[in-house]
Amino acid sequence: MASTQPTYEQLLQRVQTLEAEIKSRPQMEAQIPEKDARATSVNRHRQAEEAPGQSEQLYRSLVENTLDGYFIGEWPSGRFRFLNKRMREMLGYTQEEGLSLTLWEVIEPDDHAAFKSAVDRRQKVEKGVGPPAAYRAKRRDGTYFRAEISSAMVLFEEKPAIQGLLRDITETTRLQAQLQQAQRMESIGTLAGGVAHDFNNLLMAILGNTTMAKLGLDPKHPVYERLENIVTYVQNASALTKQLLEFARGGKYEVRSTVLNSLIEKTVQMFGRAKKELSIHTKLDPELWTAEVDRGQIEQVLLNLLVNAWQAMPEGGRIDIETRNAVIESTYSKAFRITPGNYVCISVADTGIGMEKEVQSKIFEPFFSTKDRSRGTGLGLASAYGIIKNHDGIINVYSEKGKGAKFTIYLPAVEKKLETVPAPAAAKMIPGTEKVLLVDDEQMILEVGQAILVELGYHPCLAHSGQEALDIYTRDKGEIDLVILDMIMPAMSGGETYDRLKAIRPDVKVLLSSGYSLSGEAARILNRGCNGFIQKPFNIEELSRKIREVLDGESCAPET
Ligand SMILES: Nc1ncnc2c1ncn2[C@@H]1O[C@H](COP(=O)(O)OP(=O)(O)OP(=O)(O)O)[C@@H](O)[C@H]1O
Ligand SMILES: [Mg+2]
Repeated sequence: MASTQPTYEQLLQRVQTLEAEIKSRPQMEAQIPEKDARATSVNRHRQAEEAPGQSEQLYRSLVENTLDGYFIGEWPSGRFRFLNKRMREMLGYTQEEGLSLTLWEVIEPDDHAAFKSAVDRRQKVEKGVGPPAAYRAKRRDGTYFRAEISSAMVLFEEKPAIQGLLRDITETTRLQAQLQQAQRMESIGTLAGGVAHDFNNLLMAILGNTTMAKLGLDPKHPVYERLENIVTYVQNASALTKQLLEFARGGKYEVRSTVLNSLIEKTVQMFGRAKKELSIHTKLDPELWTAEVDRGQIEQVLLNLLVNAWQAMPEGGRIDIETRNAVIESTYSKAFRITPGNYVCISVADTGIGMEKEVQSKIFEPFFSTKDRSRGTGLGLASAYGIIKNHDGIINVYSEKGKGAKFTIYLPAVEKKLETVPAPAAAKMIPGTEKVLLVDDEQMILEVGQAILVELGYHPCLAHSGQEALDIYTRDKGEIDLVILDMIMPAMSGGETYDRLKAIRPDVKVLLSSGYSLSGEAARILNRGCNGFIQKPFNIEELSRKIREVLDGESCAPET
């Protein structure tokens, strides 16, 4: 049956033509010199208003329903002559109110000069629609948002006017800043990890030498106590590098499915016992999803947050701890570099001194502290950040100066249950007699390692590089019972050395050692069959136990 109605294709084509016309219009008109301007398409639009046709309706609907704000304002008075629906919604005005406003009441006064000069440039130099620029815009209710405006000069009722597109970019800006922050933290993480790694090697050498010196000494000797002190200081230093490594996204050692409520309750109880000046309130969702976490690490994160809250309230105050379930959509997850999905959310809020924006942007960096040296090293939040990142989660802060701070953590929720991993055995020195090949590019590590191995009763031989290790192993493979292999070495890395040792003898026993924590690369080598991992600096008891675990065939590879 014949129809006078346009077909779908015809309609579509018309819409496309109109769209193209709208896109090209500002350029067209801006090219008309102001003085001898003739009627422009905006005027044509008004003429058309008098006899609205089908295309006019389509055109109206397009402009009204576009996802961006669209406006026309007289220039330079800025009085609005037209605001589309989206524009009115963003600003919170009715049509009538909008038409009694000027652009200068919408754009924040500090930004007026920038906006005027952008329009000026457009008139004089760059014809057409200028690149969008961002300004602070004010809503009817007095709140502000970040507005991106692109504009062009046109004639409206034969008078100069400005025609513009306005977009609310508050959220985009925030997400971009978040992404940049995440990238910055990643590069600081690499740096911090490198420093911690080199330090751990030095600490290993100090610890090893001290231990050896102590072993041959009568405990009553006056130097003995000094040596004990050195061991204690090395332990303190290695607690520091441990935090740095955590920040640099070190390993998770004991991952278990956990309902975080009970962990939080326990931590809060422990913390609150001695802090009578604080009132601590918890609101824990009884239906909280399960998360897979290293409990020790998460407990440490909570303690760091609680201690900070306490320090932020010298006169006492209130701490609120809350848990809830949360679903993170892909718009947000991208900015935080996590996967979208279900998350368990924990927040810790205090009523303390709060922080300015400037301070907030730095708090997760290692060694950033506003406290005096005796109170803070600035590693509390850095290690919290690393731990949460390493759990594929998010930690962020909301705070205003003088109005307290609220830290929020998101950890991925899981359904499956994980087996628990047994806690490491108590420390004691276990001797042995086997032949051990020690591979490390650092002479100081080889020296103390050799001394420790001899002390334990083993027969060590030494290699300064992966290649040397392969040569020795090829020659003596029948005699070498264990290889202790450094992971980071120049030329041939620990990983490659491991693979080649394994090619020589598939059942080679290797204990991997590193100044880094058990992270990506180490975990991959372990997955390829390597028998164990030990982190430097290790003490003689720890090493003796790991060696026995590997030689006696018990797996000591922690789950990652
Ligand atoms: N709840 C809070 N209220 C106000 N400021 C805070 C709060 N938490 C952290 N900060 C600020 O962040 C900085 C860094 O915190 P972070 O825990 O990393 O280090 P620190 O507490 O100074 O030292 P450390 O934790 O190593 O003892 C603090 O110095 C402080 O300025
Ligand atoms: Mg702290």
